[in-house]
Amino acid sequence: MKKRFSFLVTMVALLVFLAACGSGSESSGTADGGEEEYVLQAGHSLPDDHPYHLGFLEMAKNVEERTDGRVKIEVFPYSEIGAERELTEGLTLGTVDLAMSSTAPVTNFVPELEVLDVPFIFNDRESAVEVLNGEIGDELFAAMEEKGIIGLSWGENGYRHITNSVRPVEKPEDLEGLKIRVQENEIHLAAFEELGAQPTPMAWTEALTALQQNTVEAQENPAIVADQYKLYESNQKYMTLTGHVYSVAVYMMSKQTYDELPEDLREIVLEEGQKIGEMQRDMIVEMEQESLKTLEEQGVEIIEDVDTAPFQEAVRPTYEMVEHQDLLNKILDAQKQ
Ligand code: PAF
Repeated sequence: MKKRFSFLVTMVALLVFLAACGSGSESSGTADGGEEEYVLQAGHSLPDDHPYHLGFLEMAKNVEERTDGRVKIEVFPYSEIGAERELTEGLTLGTVDLAMSSTAPVTNFVPELEVLDVPFIFNDRESAVEVLNGEIGDELFAAMEEKGIIGLSWGENGYRHITNSVRPVEKPEDLEGLKIRVQENEIHLAAFEELGAQPTPMAWTEALTALQQNTVEAQENPAIVADQYKLYESNQKYMTLTGHVYSVAVYMMSKQTYDELPEDLREIVLEEGQKIGEMQRDMIVEMEQESLKTLEEQGVEIIEDVDTAPFQEAVRPTYEMVEHQDLLNKILDAQKQ
């Protein structure tokens, strides 16, 4: 989008210049006497009826209203302007204005975020939200800002569960040798190695083809993703409700875009971005059960009453590999109170 943003600003500047030459006025307005307008591009990897997208649409509507049309946000679903890792990189470079992503790939740019993707780190959704909306969440936002990314608000992808094409998975031993696609995240990779599977990290865009072509037999994602991407049509016959990661997602803005916007406009974008996380999360909670039902109706065998204790035990070594042990302990302590 940056190109478009720069192009627009350049065009507006040119028009202003021409208007000024013509009238001799020093007005900084556009040709029709208005002020400069900005178009921001927002990207994410999910469909246009997923809460990631609906959150952005709400933000776009409110921003446009409050800025009297001076800031428009175009929202691109389905990784159209990049998969999550590319989008995050784009934010740091200022070539992407806004993005929503699960935190796993963002960790490649902001290592402190690794703590959020440690399996079973959160007691439950409520504890996670409390941690994220408190001091720890602020500390993580500060780390993101150092890398050129403004954290607008925390949202969620949902609880990650394992699907596969081979057999019902009830215990870690059932994962032995299973070829599974994981996100581009060291902790996820290590966790599935510990569980005995054969994990391969790849972007979601590649994962779908890999599942269809059977080069991987399994994947792990929340029920809404499995439903909206009809993973049962990509050979996924079994879903085990491990909930091994509460997949945090985050609405983000490029610091460069933020700095380039006039102060009054950037405040509005920031405020509206701060509002959507909670709304997005509520939508996920609402849709989750419905998606599970759809998956079941489509013939997916749902393995519900999973004893997660042996899974937790198996992935325990991933806690040791976390570089930011201070943050890890803070998260664990915050949930003891
Ligand atoms: O598995 C992933 O890569 C992510 O969960 C997804 C589907 C892109 C949503 O954030």
